[in-house]
Amino acid sequence: MGSSCFSRGNKKTLQLVQQYLKDHQLEREVILKGNHCFSDCSSGPVLKIGAKLYEHVTQDTVLEIMQKEFSDL
Ligand code: FES
Repeated sequence: MGSSCFSRGNKKTLQLVQQYLKDHQLEREVILKGNHCFSDCSSGPVLKIGAKLYEHVTQDTVLEIMQKEFSDL
């Protein structure tokens, strides 16, 4: 959620995450919190789901990550 993330297209990536949660009725089950890239902006944007960290997340990769992580819910 830092300015470096947004300069790397994070506005669109965040919208895709929010839309995925809405489309899959996960808004009540998943807590979405913004943060900086866990002190590793060089790897940002970083997405943390549970204990897993995904680095260099883009609008092209985020939906695949969401499907992988939430397909069982
Ligand atoms: S907060 Fe620094 S790149 Fe994401």
